Amino acid sequence: MIDQQTIAKIMDAAQIVDVVSDFVTLKKRGVNYLGLCPFHNEKTPSFTVSPAKGIFKCFGCGKGGSAVHFVMEHEQLSYVEALRYLAKKYHIEIVEREQTDEEKLAQSERESLFAINDYAAKYFINNLNNTPEGEAVGMSYFRERGFTDETVKKFQLGYSLDEFNAFSKEATASGYNPDLLEKLGLSIRREADNSLFDRFRGRVMFPVHSLSGKVVAFGGRILKKDEKAAKYLNSPESSIYHKSNELYGLYFAKQSIVRQDRCILVEGYTDVISMHQSGIENVVASSGTSLTSPQIRLIRRFTPNVTVIYDGDAAGIQASIRGIDLLLEEGMNVKVLLLPDGQDPDSYAQAHNASDFIDFISNNQVDFIHFKANLLLEEAGKDPIKKASLIGDLAKSVSLISDTIIRSVYVKECAELLDMEEKIFYNTINKLRRAKLKESYRKEPTPQTDSVIPNEEASAETSPTSAVEIEQQIATKYDAEEKNILYFVVRYAEIILYEKNDDEQSRCVKVGEYILAELDSDQIEFQNPLHAAMMNELRQHIDEENFVSSTFFINYPNCNVSALAAELATDKYSESKIFLKHLNDEGNRELQKRKEFGEWLGRAVPRVILELKNSIVLDQLKNARERLKTDASAEAMQKFARLNGIKNKLSKALGERVVIK
Ligand code: CTP
Ligand code: MN
Repeated sequence: MIDQQTIAKIMDAAQIVDVVSDFVTLKKRGVNYLGLCPFHNEKTPSFTVSPAKGIFKCFGCGKGGSAVHFVMEHEQLSYVEALRYLAKKYHIEIVEREQTDEEKLAQSERESLFAINDYAAKYFINNLNNTPEGEAVGMSYFRERGFTDETVKKFQLGYSLDEFNAFSKEATASGYNPDLLEKLGLSIRREADNSLFDRFRGRVMFPVHSLSGKVVAFGGRILKKDEKAAKYLNSPESSIYHKSNELYGLYFAKQSIVRQDRCILVEGYTDVISMHQSGIENVVASSGTSLTSPQIRLIRRFTPNVTVIYDGDAAGIQASIRGIDLLLEEGMNVKVLLLPDGQDPDSYAQAHNASDFIDFISNNQVDFIHFKANLLLEEAGKDPIKKASLIGDLAKSVSLISDTIIRSVYVKECAELLDMEEKIFYNTINKLRRAKLKESYRKEPTPQTDSVIPNEEASAETSPTSAVEIEQQIATKYDAEEKNILYFVVRYAEIILYEKNDDEQSRCVKVGEYILAELDSDQIEFQNPLHAAMMNELRQHIDEENFVSSTFFINYPNCNVSALAAELATDKYSESKIFLKHLNDEGNRELQKRKEFGEWLGRAVPRVILELKNSIVLDQLKNARERLKTDASAEAMQKFARLNGIKNKLSKALGERVVIK
């Protein structure tokens, strides 16, 4: 783990203009820099970099954040990886944070497991390249399959000797822990004498990489024709490998997926590798099993668009179609490509160059719902009973689409395809959606275990890779009001709002202190966990002498926090419509002039707090009014009257301009 001081050093060194300039040509425009956004296609520049604030923001696609975010987004790295990248660029030595004993234990086992897999991958590579058996059997197999040397090297393909315990013997002799070799499934323990033997024997080896490129598992393909043995043997589940959470090839594909804004989904190892070799790199494989939700979410970090490629033979199609419903349910846009009979992505890629394959994909991929409708239609023929079940089947798929507009387009198209009344199809879908909704009510709510500010290394693999994902934060009731308050927290927390005269002493009250005190006085806590976490941090640090809120939050070692801070610190935010409807007319830029600015701040800060309080009271009042309908007790009436009184006061205060002196 990188220690806080090192993070601070990196943040200081990483000048945003300098970092971005490695990838984007920037031109100076006033105090800012302008360029073409690297994250979406544009002809006129809307990508702005503010050296003063240390942030970038694209007004075209909305991406924005600190130098670290830029590197994360551009290079598709995790937070920690981006920090390491910047440390390297600025020659900063990384000081690792001292871990707790528990952390050390867990960490050291994980690290040992990774170290063993790394060792094993290298061992298998060495077999392939430098042993007679490896060359004669393994390498000639890859050659036969048309894999170039470069491809073999890139995917770190290897060979496991056809011996009983060649690997286990060598690994233990090199000092690797036998228990861990067993945990990873590279070795198997023989009951008779407790000795280790090799799981993979006489197989070519395909390492499976995590998102950050570490080897988490292996697949080994048999070379002999053996009816009984499985064609592929895979590593078992371990604490570093959960099959349903990994996608083969994602490490090699992620950048291309972002660039193409599409992920191609195939079945197997060799499909991924051959397509890569032919020049199509945005490909991943689910490795023979049907897709899982975690895998889909992994893809969605990079794109919402998926093309699923099927082999030409129809056998597997029916089964795979079920997996596609899950893609729809997770909100992905799904297209399907059927290859010519007898072809799979591997053979097609071997026989065609990239541009032919790409053309074939774009000319032949069809929308999934249409694909399914036509497939089922063909199958049902004129049989009315089959047709009825087909309608139900299709309705189920369409009902999974959560976007109302897209769903209604499909309803229209499906009704046409099925030659039935749109209204009837609609009703079927609505019934399905209601049933599902009911079911979800019945389910226990899943506990919110993720803390908002997770520990840095643990979140490295799972934390959002882009500033945009902040929008996927859970929405809560008073988000807008809370965000308006945070606007002042992030920008001006350390600025003096007013002077307070207590008895003889006078004391300066900072914006941040005022906000905390005001919320505390009514026992208001922010509902959005991210917002609440930021207020908590404010409380911890506001008294520090050199506390500068914007720097503190923009450089905060959690990208949800820093992305929101960057958003709030951007000038555009104040012009967006959610911000301070009532104060907009005062145009805050002009008011930066000292005195007027102070006056503006003196009105604006209390106002945003009043707005939050007002929203809360209005909600409570609504509840109290509801209650009165069935409960005419004195207590209920008093409560209603009291809330009504507060509401009147608040609206009066909100009607007038509040000036604090
Ligand atoms: N698979 C597996 N175990 C098997 C068969 C298949 O784990 N016994 C997985 C592998 O990940 C494989 C994928 O399912 O890559 C697809 O299977 P298949 O199409 O049979 O394999 P290919 O990758 O096409 O392999 P090859 O071209 O070498 O036959
Ligand atoms: Mn194949």
